Amino acid sequence: MTGLRIAPSILAADLTRLAEQVAQVEAGGADWIHLDVMDGQFVPPITFGANMVAAVRTLTKLPLDVHLMVMQPERYVDPFADAGANAFTFHPEATIHAHRLLASIRARKMVAGLALNPGTPLEAAEELVDAIDLLLIMSVNPGYGGQSYIPSATAKIARARALLDARGSRAYLEVDGGIGRDTIERAARAGADTFVAGAGVFGTADPAAEVRELRRRCAVPV
Ligand code: DX5
Ligand code: ZN
Repeated sequence: MTGLRIAPSILAADLTRLAEQVAQVEAGGADWIHLDVMDGQFVPPITFGANMVAAVRTLTKLPLDVHLMVMQPERYVDPFADAGANAFTFHPEATIHAHRLLASIRARKMVAGLALNPGTPLEAAEELVDAIDLLLIMSVNPGYGGQSYIPSATAKIARARALLDARGSRAYLEVDGGIGRDTIERAARAGADTFVAGAGVFGTADPAAEVRELRRRCAVPV
């Protein structure tokens, strides 16, 4: 895929004024809105579900990038598609038939995403490349916003870029966790094209300006 995308995560937004926060990042040129769904099983926290996606759907026309940190994500393809999700990304450890699930996500006209934890080898994606529209490299262990970028993620992004290119894949290569002014450039240079940022956007005084700044910093030659 061409171009670069900034995807602010509403995990770090002030939910008491969600409409305003979404409008702020949209004004700053955000490309996607990232929604972190957690079930208290795959990761300890519980966040929100398809009803939140439906609510955000009424606030913006931007693509909604849903990241499911849940067990048995195959149970939720239809609810999230019906709620207006545009991308559905799951973790391979959470399901038995990842290949089938990717196909069922595509069948519901969503971007089919696979997310790899820091401890999950890139090889977990190898047999699935042709079925993947989005490969998400986690640069923190999932479950919490505001963590520090794990340095080894950069080399993994580069290996993921090489894998996708070698296979002729046009999948998005997304990075998630600890992305902000100080880390986005190295992820971009390694070949990421889509950048999730929670605290790095909503934790700042001016989220709109911060989206612009992140875009400026990731526009580097790869
Ligand atoms: C972590 C989530 C991330 C989170 C990132 O489990 O998948 O999307 O919102 O938060 P920051 O950007 O604050 O690390
Ligand atoms: Zn996420």
